[in-house]
Amino acid sequence: MQNATKMGLNCTGAQMSPMDSKEQLKASQEVRPDIPGNERKLALVRTEEAAKADAIGSVPIPGSARGMVKTALNKLVGVSPEVLIDKLGERLAFERGGVRLYEALMAKAQAIDAVDEQMLKTMKHFRDEEAEHLQLVVAAMEKLGADPTAMTPCADVVGVTNMGVLQTISDPRTNLAQSLNALLTAELTDNAGWELLIELADAAGQSSISESFEKALAQEQVHADTVRGWLSEEVMRQV
Ligand SMILES: [Fe+2]
Repeated sequence: MQNATKMGLNCTGAQMSPMDSKEQLKASQEVRPDIPGNERKLALVRTEEAAKADAIGSVPIPGSARGMVKTALNKLVGVSPEVLIDKLGERLAFERGGVRLYEALMAKAQAIDAVDEQMLKTMKHFRDEEAEHLQLVVAAMEKLGADPTAMTPCADVVGVTNMGVLQTISDPRTNLAQSLNALLTAELTDNAGWELLIELADAAGQSSISESFEKALAQEQVHADTVRGWLSEEVMRQV
């Protein structure tokens, strides 16, 4: 694996061919787009589509009788349990994705000559913690009578959002620093996600759930700080 940034025959920039670039600029003024409309029309269509679109999914009705009772109870006290269940589903999907990100990263790190064994060990430890967090969310959903196997709307959305991160790390051509950069995107988002979930669980009167999540948040803060440190070391090593 090429684990450092190198100079090479990159022809993507305008400096590679000033004459052709001049012609290209001229053409952009002369050749009009063959699709009617402009950026104002594009914005208008986007607004119209957003206004009439259906929701991306729904939160399933809790399957167990116990869940039904709890849901009804929360409705009575003016809290929407579906918001909490949706965000729990999101965290579950994210942590499951986190396990896959670390597995892809560990496989990549193995390709490095003289790989840092301590870093590999820590990656494995973080991978295991992501799996534990997943189980923590499963337990919370079951406590509420919700189905942890269901794809909630927010779970669906984070799956799509994280596709770029997974693609970056699983691309065999990306080096360690590029992969760590992608992982940092996920870990920073994960931290914010746990903070919001704890706030939400508290607001929904589910203090035992929010307390059980504090340990996960503390561990995620270590993940983000460590990945940030690895990225910095890896980039500075190349200088
Ligand atoms: Fe993490």
